[in-house]
Amino acid sequence: MADIRNIVILTGAGISAESGIDTFRDAGGLWEKHRIEDVATPEAFARNPALVQGFYDARRAALDTVEPNAAHRALARLESEWPRDDSHSLLIVTQNVDDLHERAGAKSVLHMHGRLRSALCTACRARMEWHGPLGDAPPCEACGAPALRPDIVWFGEMPYEMERIYAALASADLFVSIGTSGAVYPAAGFVQEAAAYGARTLELNLERSEGSHWFDESRQGRAGELVPAWLDELLGG
Ligand code: NAD
Ligand code: APR
Repeated sequence: MADIRNIVILTGAGISAESGIDTFRDAGGLWEKHRIEDVATPEAFARNPALVQGFYDARRAALDTVEPNAAHRALARLESEWPRDDSHSLLIVTQNVDDLHERAGAKSVLHMHGRLRSALCTACRARMEWHGPLGDAPPCEACGAPALRPDIVWFGEMPYEMERIYAALASADLFVSIGTSGAVYPAAGFVQEAAAYGARTLELNLERSEGSHWFDESRQGRAGELVPAWLDELLGG
């Protein structure tokens, strides 16, 4: 593994499944219990803000009842042990809006779909840490307008920091995808982007995903087992 210097890791809902957070498309997943068009689009928020605020208030409150698992802890260890110099880099990109990577100790996770513990002002577009309910759109800390919404990227909106992600994929030697179904773009296309620039690609997922065929190697199993085992391989035990 000595020739691996720049790593990009993409995580999805599956890395948090063993912590007790529902995934989206598994049996019993979030999109079986709620319709995307009712809770995860800008049109849904415009049509019924109280319903959408309540949906994310409940998901935000549930964060206090779950803990990071061995997969989150393994990635935090990798981040802390990976060399910090001009010829090495590590970027953890997550589609998840939970805070389990951070609570496991990871310091610089890129949340491309936003975060439950953040609020976005629909008036001035400021983003701010937010831990309580957003039910009645409290005033923005930056502009004072009563215009705060969940800082979540909904279907039809642009994910955050795409330029930074594509720059990291262009220089990656290794791209690892953990716990994602490969159903939603642009994240589902990251493996092809990294491979086009010569990166090796590895998928760690409970079952084969919609994108498994794009990976050099695809391992099936629970993230809580696969990720620590992969880390031991990478760091030499
Ligand atoms: P997309 O085309 O990227 O997603 C395609 C998949 O999303 C579909 O396979 C389906 O599984 C699901 N989907 C999308 N719209 C749906 C609908 N109306 N009903 C049922 N399933 C639906 O979706 P998009 O509109 O291009 O999304 C743009 C961006 O929004 C995506 O890149 C994604 O990053 C982001 N996003 C965020 C969330 C969130 O809850 N954080 C949800 C969805 C999308
Ligand atoms: N270990 C590893 N993988 C798991 C585990 C586990 N314990 N449990 C489930 N998985 C896998 C499933 O096999 C599935 O492929 O995690 C994946 C979860 O897929 P989705 O539910 O589609 O979640 P995700 O891929 O993160 O969804 C992408 O879609 O709705 C949008 O913005 C939302 O970020 C989300 C995006």
